[in-house]
Amino acid sequence: MTDFPRIYAHRGASSLAPENTIAAFSKAWELGATCFEFDVDVIGDGTLIVIHDDTLDRTTSGEGSYYELSYSDIRKLDAGRWFSDTYRLERIPEVADVISFANAQHMSMNLEIKPCRGGRELRQTLIENLSVAVDALADPSRLLVSSFDHALLADFHQARPQIALGWLFERENQPCPSWQSGAAALGCRAIHPDNRGLTREEVAQMRAAGFEVNVWTVNDCERARELARWGVTGIFTDRPQDFPAEALAR
Ligand code: G3P
Ligand code: MG
Repeated sequence: MTDFPRIYAHRGASSLAPENTIAAFSKAWELGATCFEFDVDVIGDGTLIVIHDDTLDRTTSGEGSYYELSYSDIRKLDAGRWFSDTYRLERIPEVADVISFANAQHMSMNLEIKPCRGGRELRQTLIENLSVAVDALADPSRLLVSSFDHALLADFHQARPQIALGWLFERENQPCPSWQSGAAALGCRAIHPDNRGLTREEVAQMRAAGFEVNVWTVNDCERARELARWGVTGIFTDRPQDFPAEALAR
């Protein structure tokens, strides 16, 4: 199927199941998706957890920051009921659980490291423990690691230089250095720009500079087709169910 880019289920099939849970990744797999994206941060005991926000409030039965908690606190929380009663038994996964799932289902992943606000030591622990976690990958070529926090991305790269990287950024909050210099300096394989306001010219510049381009977050099939015509290599979508199975299977 050439009229769609590669499709990553964003936080899993997050319009059908609670984001960043094994249920959402399983739902993506059931739909025939071969790739999914998920968000990673660290808690007080060094466990790597799969969550988007830096507080528990929106997506779990807990509240507040998690940087001082241990996994015995986290595992008690319900991470599905906010979405629907059907998912009330879902828990916040550990990164190791997600890697095991992807290994078993032969899926590819984009692991996004969140800009950890837990302090210098915890940020270091995040990178150390993530480096060990990715050693469990059955096929390291199935992993792409990205982050808005380019300092964390650089630290991860130093620890595991063989893992491909995506330079993630938001146009309104363009970091210094910009993708033109930063992504190349880090040896990134891909640029991950936001969909809003992205132009054909920008995509052309990124492709001409030799990068893959994976765009977030695209919930409209026609926009995905347009981006493919511009040369985009991948998109992140909350709605993999809207795309043909042949496109999801690429
Ligand atoms: O990694 C792509 C996308 O997930 C970045 O934004 O806020 O959804 O994690 P966010
Ligand atoms: Mg993300």
